Amino acid sequence: LDNGLMRTPPMGWLAWERFRCDIDCEDDPQNCISEVLFRDMADRLAEDGWRELGYVYVNIDDCWSSKERDAQGRLQADPKSRFPGGIAKLARYVHDRGLKLGIYGDLGTYTCGGYPGTTLDKIEIDAQTFAEWGVDMLKLDGCYSNSTEQEQGYPLMTKALNATGRPIGYSCSWPAYQGGLPPKVNYTLLGEICNLWRNYGDIQDSWDSVLDIVDWFTEHQDILQPAAGPGRWNDPDMLIIGDYGLSMDQSRSQMALWAIMAAPLFMSNDLRTLNSGARAVLQNKVAIAINQDPLGIQGRRLIKEKSGVDVFWRPLSGGSSALVFFSRRTDMPYRYQTSLKALNYTAGTYKMYDVFLEKPMPVLKDATEFVVSINPTGVVMWYVYPSTKWQEEGEE
Ligand code: DGJ
Repeated sequence: LDNGLMRTPPMGWLAWERFRCDIDCEDDPQNCISEVLFRDMADRLAEDGWRELGYVYVNIDDCWSSKERDAQGRLQADPKSRFPGGIAKLARYVHDRGLKLGIYGDLGTYTCGGYPGTTLDKIEIDAQTFAEWGVDMLKLDGCYSNSTEQEQGYPLMTKALNATGRPIGYSCSWPAYQGGLPPKVNYTLLGEICNLWRNYGDIQDSWDSVLDIVDWFTEHQDILQPAAGPGRWNDPDMLIIGDYGLSMDQSRSQMALWAIMAAPLFMSNDLRTLNSGARAVLQNKVAIAINQDPLGIQGRRLIKEKSGVDVFWRPLSGGSSALVFFSRRTDMPYRYQTSLKALNYTAGTYKMYDVFLEKPMPVLKDATEFVVSINPTGVVMWYVYPSTKWQEEGEE
């Protein structure tokens, strides 16, 4: 969507995967969906180095609202114990910390969690309400609507948001409700009406879930990869790094693969209790720079080896590129032998930086065979510099 927003994949935090529809603020006040949770996460994003790295969205998901619209037919936050200050006040809190606020709606009778939905006749008033509150992004889910309503509703919301005059990033769950593939899904249209879109099922807190998502996105990369670009991104769903389901290697794998796929980076974890390993992966500067490359070209899987090794590649600005060697094996570190030439690099000599070892590597000629050792369910990720670049910089 050409609204000037999200020219690189949006980054931030989103409540759903970790905090779901926990509305029990009496017994679980720290983790329930309430203004406390979003203020806490805003504090952490602002104070723990996230904001400076680009993680600026604090996003509300389902179950934030009251079960009833107000007397004027507007959505309202649950007024009692959960959002006594209202969303506008929360937006000010978030903005005061240099962050942006995202909200959730559902095109349909109800949200997936059973809260009031945005039916076609409510699109304008809801867009207006979000804009008045100072919301910066909308995720529009698709439970409880049929395909005709979705076909009308998703583009109507683009218009309604635009008409508010407030810049609001727009995330559409539409393709996920249409099976994610043409002919049902029209990726050209999506690129015109949404800044990002969920193509596939919800992520869960497990490696199986990450792998299932990666498999689906790579299997259909010929369709998905060209659909992405500045202002229009495929969304394989949230980062679950820092939760319960992933090992350290699997955490690096999710980060590397989301970076190479030019995916939005929305963490869904508890930033208040994040361990240092997860933090280091999520705050890896080079992985983030690869994700945020200004060209905005989504990467692709180049090679799928019988051994269970996949090689992914993403072209980056300035003639640089990123490589990910990913092992699906579950036995032991696998020594994968290849050469840059075998990966379509033909410009002679290259210099690499190992993203997770955080170390520059020796110069490599394109024809030279090398071996990378890839941990089970892990990755090796390289940022590859063109030889001209490092020669200009006067390095050997
Ligand atoms: C389905 C979406 O895909 C999830 O990300 C989440 O928003 C839930 N609905 C909320 O009910």
